[in-house]
Amino acid sequence: MKIHSNSHPLKVDVPSVSEIDEIAAFHSKLPGYVPTPLVSIDGIAKELGIRRLLVKDEGKRFGLKAFKALGASYAVYKLLQERDAGKLQPEEFLSERGKKLAEGITFTCATDGNHGRALAWIARLLGRKAVIFMPQGSVPSRIDAIRSEGADVVVVEGGYDDAVRRASEEAEKKGWVVIADVGYPGYMEIPRYIQMGYMTIFRETINQLVERGEKTPDIVFLQAGVGAFASASALYFNDPADGIRLVSVEPGDADCLFRSAEAGDGTAHSSPAFGNTIMAGLNCETPSMAAWPIVRDRFDCYITIEDHYAEVAMRVLTGEGIVAGESGAAGLGGLIALLEEDPSFAEEKLQLRDDAHVLVINTEADTDPEGYRRIVGTIG
Ligand SMILES: Cc1ncc(COP(=O)(O)O)c(C=O)c1O
Repeated sequence: MKIHSNSHPLKVDVPSVSEIDEIAAFHSKLPGYVPTPLVSIDGIAKELGIRRLLVKDEGKRFGLKAFKALGASYAVYKLLQERDAGKLQPEEFLSERGKKLAEGITFTCATDGNHGRALAWIARLLGRKAVIFMPQGSVPSRIDAIRSEGADVVVVEGGYDDAVRRASEEAEKKGWVVIADVGYPGYMEIPRYIQMGYMTIFRETINQLVERGEKTPDIVFLQAGVGAFASASALYFNDPADGIRLVSVEPGDADCLFRSAEAGDGTAHSSPAFGNTIMAGLNCETPSMAAWPIVRDRFDCYITIEDHYAEVAMRVLTGEGIVAGESGAAGLGGLIALLEEDPSFAEEKLQLRDDAHVLVINTEADTDPEGYRRIVGTIG
C-alpha cells in the first residue's frame, strides 16, 4: 500500500444551492428513481475497531448495477437544455420535447463498463443511438450489458486513454456528441455536469442520516479512476473546516491521483501503463482535468491498495447481504488496508479511532458476475 497525505486541505467552490436542488429534482424524475439504501454494518465496524460503518449501496441505482447514470443523465439533460435556450425542465427530459431536442444525435464515450452502460441507457430512453468504446480486455458481461441497451460497442487495442482518444476522434469525424467523464483542455463542461450529477449520492446519504437522527460521517473512503466520482464528494463536503476527512483509494498500478498528489506540483500526472487490476472501473491512466484540481485541493489523503483488499471487502459485504463488484468494494478495501497496514497513520493523521463514523460507497454490484462468483463463491 502507498499513502500520501495532504496536510492542508482547502475549501473548494461549490455549485449554488439552486443548482444542487435542480440536480436532485432532475434525478427524481428519471424512471425507477428511489434513493439507494444506506446500510449500517455494525458487526464489521466493531471488528475494525470503529464506531459506525455506513455503506451507501449504489449497486441498486436504476437497476443498472452502478452509480454512473446519475452523472451521464444530468450531463445529457444540461446539453439538451442548452439547445432549448435553458428552458427544458427536468420532467420534460424524456418527453416528446426532450426527444425532439435530441433528434439526430448519436452519443459516444469511452468506458470501462459502467459509464458506457449509463450513457447507452439514456440514449435508449431518448430514442437515440450510442457508440461506446472500451479498452482491451473488457469482460464479455460488461460489453453485453451495454449492447443490451441497444448501443454499439467497439473494443479498442489499448487501455482506457486509447478508448477516450478513439471516442473523441470518431465523434469529430462523424459529428457524434461525446458525453465523457474525463475533462481535458477544451472539453470541461460535460465532465463538470457529470461530477455534479454524482453529488446526489452524498445529498441522499446526508438526508438519510438526518432522518435517522444520526451524525454526518467523520471519514469517507472514495475509490477513484479518473477522479470524477471523488470530486463529487469534494463538492458536497467542500469545507475541511467541517471536519470530514476524504480519502481517495486507487489500485496499486492505476494510481494517477496518488501520483499527481505525490508529485506536488499541482498538475495531473498519469500512471505509466494501463494497469493490471481486477478493479476495472478504477483502471484509468490519467486524471480528469475537470476533477483533479477539486480533488487536489480538498482531499486529505490518497492511498493505493492491492487487488487482494478489494476481494476481502467483496466477501465482507456479501456476508452483510450487499452485492459489491471489484471496484464497488474498493472503498471498504481501502479502509481495511489502512487499518491493517498502517494503523498509526490512520489514527494520527485521520483520527480513525474507536469513535469514528466511516462512510464507504458500494459503487457497483456484480457487473462481472463470473468474476464475482470466482471471488465470493456465490451468485450476486
Ligand atoms: C464502479 C466504479 N466505481 C468507481 C469508479 C471511479 O469513478 P471515476 O472514474 O470518476 O474516478 C468507476 C469508474 O468507472 C466505477 O465504474
